[in-house]
Amino acid sequence: MNSLGELRQRFREALDPLVDDPARLLEMILPAQDSRFGDYQANCAMPLGKERGCPPREVASEIVERLQVEDLCEPVEIAGPGFINLRLRQDWLAEQVNQLVHDPRLGVDGTDHPTMVVIDYSSPNVAKPMHVGHIRSTVIGDALARTLRFLGHQVIADNHLGDWGTQFGMIIYGYKHFVDADRYTQDTISELSRLYRLVNDLIDYHQAVADLPGLEEEIRDREQQLTQQPAGQADRDEEEQKEQASQLRRLQAQLDDAQGRLAQQRKKIAAVDEDEVLAARAAAHPGIAEAVLQETARLHEGDAENQQLWEQFLPACRAEIEKIYRRLDIRFDVEHGESFYHSQLGQVVEDLLENGLARISEEAVCVFGDKYDTPMIIRKKDGAFLYATTDLATIQYRVATWQPDVLLYVVDHRQGEHFEKLFDAARRWKCPDLDMRHISFGTVLGDDGRPFKTRSGEVVNLESLLDGAVARAQEVVTESDESKPGGAELGEQERVHIANVVGHAAIKYADLSHNRTSDYVFSYDKMMALEGNTATYMQYSYARVQSIFRRGEVDVDGLRSSFATILLQHPAERHLALGLLQFCEALDQVLEDYRPNQLTSYLFDVAKRFSTFFQECPVLRADDDAVRQSRLLLCDVTARVIRQGLELLGIGVVDRM
Ligand code: ARG
Repeated sequence: MNSLGELRQRFREALDPLVDDPARLLEMILPAQDSRFGDYQANCAMPLGKERGCPPREVASEIVERLQVEDLCEPVEIAGPGFINLRLRQDWLAEQVNQLVHDPRLGVDGTDHPTMVVIDYSSPNVAKPMHVGHIRSTVIGDALARTLRFLGHQVIADNHLGDWGTQFGMIIYGYKHFVDADRYTQDTISELSRLYRLVNDLIDYHQAVADLPGLEEEIRDREQQLTQQPAGQADRDEEEQKEQASQLRRLQAQLDDAQGRLAQQRKKIAAVDEDEVLAARAAAHPGIAEAVLQETARLHEGDAENQQLWEQFLPACRAEIEKIYRRLDIRFDVEHGESFYHSQLGQVVEDLLENGLARISEEAVCVFGDKYDTPMIIRKKDGAFLYATTDLATIQYRVATWQPDVLLYVVDHRQGEHFEKLFDAARRWKCPDLDMRHISFGTVLGDDGRPFKTRSGEVVNLESLLDGAVARAQEVVTESDESKPGGAELGEQERVHIANVVGHAAIKYADLSHNRTSDYVFSYDKMMALEGNTATYMQYSYARVQSIFRRGEVDVDGLRSSFATILLQHPAERHLALGLLQFCEALDQVLEDYRPNQLTSYLFDVAKRFSTFFQECPVLRADDDAVRQSRLLLCDVTARVIRQGLELLGIGVVDRM
């Protein structure tokens, strides 16, 4: 049973005769921060007192008088200005935790209001290898899909692959001009990646050359502005001097920034100029950027050659991405890429024009909204459709196919404006009541606090990132095995298997344990620490329980189905039991604002409670048999909660580490 849910229900009954809208007050009943004050705390008397102009303590007494919780709580206390402190009864707690022993769902009842949710996540552009930027959308989306399903919602996991954009124009152009036929037959995907990078570098090169004069001019201007700043004058008042100094600093910072960009562009240009082959190619393809756009346009218009190349490239690109999904245990129900919607885009634009939602502005078709000055363009002057057009067609399709209640888009925060405009247009067009959300997330950073790059400044390839994690995990596992008091226990093959589970888990968990809206610094060392909020620690706690069972030669199935019960005699036992009962509450919190870090925090808390319990309460060497069995059961429920919680995050466990 969900204790918090039950308490809120009881409060609702008590508050109903007192206020019109108890719902907002019920949210103020929360787990207590400090267990000395009880298990839960209700802070609703304070705002209510304020509204009514009477002392909150009085309001609190009034609520407590009406509150009927004798069966689940100790006598309720009012503390300080009017906090209502709630402590669960020992017998109630014991009864609840004993139910977990036999409950395969570990007290998670599932929702009373099942909804149909379409989640759009991962969604990489497929002509290039997946990189570190894709990890967040992939694992956050997967964790949300798993959690929603577990709670009884219907979920369609949809991978909106970028399989139709300019990146294909790039490899088509690359293929036509630079392909190495042997390499293409031997290893298609690596040749396609090489072509992608080559074309990208050449485009970048010409862009950098073209940007140079403007950048140099910007620097000259800034330098001039700086020299024209009046020198600090002693007769000015303090305010003015301060203002002047900050103006100077601002100008200097802008100058530094422009100089930094210039240095970067020059480096890029030099890298090509110094490479004879590359320089010759750059010289031979001056209009490459434009030509790539034309190749893309030709593909979209149905040009036979480009269409045929696209059909040839796509399976290789998809197979490459599939490899990563297999490693990470990521699954989708559908993978309708952008190309799937191509034939519908014309109709979408016509429909929006007819409805008066779109209009022509400067020869382009645009949807204007209230919030932004710039419109959302859905057809360019040259007739080309855009990312937004495809997204509108996608919403139309999803609504018609699945009649969803909720659409979630797990996408980088930089696309915030795109989604606001998109949702606004879609609401006015098709689905006024649909709950559409951008589940946005921050950036993965390197040690230097900038977006994570390789030493040579390239984006980090996801596959090599995973390889790196598995290699590290191998070291951690070997070291920990070899330092076991009774000597190493694991064979080579088992170590490899464990390193695989631990390495992938570490990457996922590190990502999921950060609040999704913040940036975080990528660190192999931190994510595989044996102590702390890491997957490794969680997996270690799980393995520790399994090792207790092995050492005690415990028949776990037999124990579960025996008459043994959990007794809560020691405070550490009680504390752990309460934590285990809050699993269902943690999952509710995850879905409140679609934040998997609510679950990682919860699991970390449980693992810490378990560790205290384990230090203070002997299990195999407990004084009598009933206590021993009770503690073994607590260990078992703990392990199951950890395993189930990790599974909802897409993370596996191992029996020994
Ligand atoms: N392919 C896009 C990108 O890499 C992300 C797509 C997100 N989903 C969507 N329906 N727009 O930026």
